[in-house]
Amino acid sequence: MPSYTLEQLTEQLAAIECEVRRNLAEVTQVDALRGLESRVLGKQGSLGALISSVKEYPPEQRGQVGKTVNEAKVRVKGLIDERLRTLESAASQAEVSAAGALDPTLPGVRRPLGSVHPVTAVQWEIERAFERLGFTVEAGPEMEEEYNNFDALNIPPTHPARDMQDTFWVDNGKVLRTHTSPVQHRAMIKFGAPLRIIAPGRCFRYETIDASHENTFHQVEGLVIDRDISLANLIAMAQTLLREVMRREVKLRVRPGYFPFVEPGIEIDMNCQICGGKRCPTCKQSGWVEILPAGMVHPNVLAAGKIDTEIYTGFAFGLGLTRLAMMKYGIRDIRVLNSGDLRALVAPERFGGPLLRGAEN
Ligand code: PHE
Repeated sequence: MPSYTLEQLTEQLAAIECEVRRNLAEVTQVDALRGLESRVLGKQGSLGALISSVKEYPPEQRGQVGKTVNEAKVRVKGLIDERLRTLESAASQAEVSAAGALDPTLPGVRRPLGSVHPVTAVQWEIERAFERLGFTVEAGPEMEEEYNNFDALNIPPTHPARDMQDTFWVDNGKVLRTHTSPVQHRAMIKFGAPLRIIAPGRCFRYETIDASHENTFHQVEGLVIDRDISLANLIAMAQTLLREVMRREVKLRVRPGYFPFVEPGIEIDMNCQICGGKRCPTCKQSGWVEILPAGMVHPNVLAAGKIDTEIYTGFAFGLGLTRLAMMKYGIRDIRVLNSGDLRALVAPERFGGPLLRGAEN
């Protein structure tokens, strides 16, 4: 019997590919690259072992499994070969310049073209981390129905919480979404329960702009609905996620927080990565930054999404993607991000690019 279902296998392959991308960016010697190749593609390698396991699948599954594994192999081999070419040409150029000569017939060092915005780089990383956990990536419109942005989230027209988020209203009665939470409602209606989605996207608020406030910023909404979901699941997930994205141990603190669409609501703060918690203007001298408002989905919100509240509970969060990108890349002033300043862009070798999708928005 094979050890994995097709679905688990696909997840394994995605994880391996992600790992390879990450390792490749760090490999600078041809020998180390060969080592990496055999650790992955060798008979005992992480991917090699999966290739050998194809024959364990029952004949009716073997075609599909073989195809999936082989496609992953071709992609991984391509990545390794590309890196090899770059390293080899860099090595031979280094030899030539060490000899004090210039060989104009050598091919140039190939540099990956283009760069990405820090917010995009962190968004891709988060998407990959959640895809490995079995989440679907959803999207919703930036110009949203008033109902989805507010009413469906337990914020009726007279609710004082409407003032918590200063809203841009559009002439046609719609709003520029003030958060990514309307995608919660859309996803419940579209998929029903159980459900695991994230929804990255741009949000808008009628704010005065300063070093830490923008009228246009990014969030990643997350929503999990299933049987027996609790706050402990949420906090554990937050810890894993932030550790993975920051690539270092981060301290978290959990405080109560109020949002009409969750009960109980919490604020998860991370120790400021700019000053390391020593207090600076970015963390408003507190040593902490609010990074992940969250909570258990309010029963009214589940009901509006046609989810059976007798059977299901869920948690939701609204990760401050812009703020996380600032923390990760040490950007102190939010205004840089929408300024078009090319110096803020992230060099392509420092991120993996979209893994599971061809095109990127
Ligand atoms: N939508 C909230 C905001 O932008 C954040 C949030 C999302 C809080 C999900 C709790 C649960 O302020």
